[in-house]
Amino acid sequence: MNKKTALVLGATGLIGKELVQILSENGHYQKVHLLVRGPIEVESKVCEIHLVDFNNLHQYHELFQVTDVFCCLGTTIKVAKTKEAFRKVDYEYPVEAAKLAKENGAEKFLIVSSMGADTKSLFFYSRVKGEVEETLSRLNIPSLHIFRPSLLLGKREEFRLGEKLAEKASGILNKVMIGPLRQYRGIQARKVAAAMAVTAQSNKKGKHIYLSHEIDSMVGFSEWKKL
Ligand SMILES: NC(=O)c1ccc[n+]([C@@H]2O[C@H](COP(=O)([O-])OP(=O)(O)OC[C@H]3O[C@@H](n4cnc5c(N)ncnc54)[C@H](OP(=O)(O)O)[C@@H]3O)[C@@H](O)[C@H]2O)c1
Repeated sequence: MNKKTALVLGATGLIGKELVQILSENGHYQKVHLLVRGPIEVESKVCEIHLVDFNNLHQYHELFQVTDVFCCLGTTIKVAKTKEAFRKVDYEYPVEAAKLAKENGAEKFLIVSSMGADTKSLFFYSRVKGEVEETLSRLNIPSLHIFRPSLLLGKREEFRLGEKLAEKASGILNKVMIGPLRQYRGIQARKVAAAMAVTAQSNKKGKHIYLSHEIDSMVGFSEWKKL
């Protein structure tokens, strides 16, 4: 009997949706808890949906008694409207989730950060990503995995002009981005999700950061398409 259990935050997002599908079907989990803020439809025998108040995650601490916690939360300044609201989603919720994961004995915490994450960055977005990484690192989680993708490619319901233009450009640019430029290539959201799912099966302890080109080469092409 397979014993692994998981909890996913951000299950309705571009990466999160792909991840939920992979975790539902890869046979490694007997239960996958999805913490969401609105109703969603997921057809899976292993998934259990929980409507939660993200400002009070501690109320659901028993759900964090799982082996692996996956965090794919994120927003944009355009949607969040203020820096404070952005920081809540990209810093406060992941940090609270990681604390609860640790308190409840979760073995692994896997999070999507971003290329360029840096506490000293001139850009607010990259600074917050750097800060969340730094705080998580200080929590001494037994097995912490930080994924830093570049531009995410995939079908998004929300229209994001900047990302759409960048996605179009990356179709051409990806072919010429070789050598050290490889890390700037756009990456399919499903590939990031697949890399997270594969990493969750490893026995690696400690903190690990994966750059975009490393994520890209973690799962073979034919493998990630059918995962
Ligand atoms: N877009 C890119 O090109 C890019 C590049 C590098 C890194 N990243 C990072 O990768 C991560 C995942 O990106 P993505 O594009 O897959 O994200 P996404 O599609 O925007 O999804 C974000 C997830 O976070 C949830 N969320 C947002 N605001 C919330 C709130 N106030 N309370 C609770 N949940 C909230 C969303 O839930 P709802 O469905 O309820 O809104 C959704 O499940 C993010 O951290 C992002 O910064 C993105």
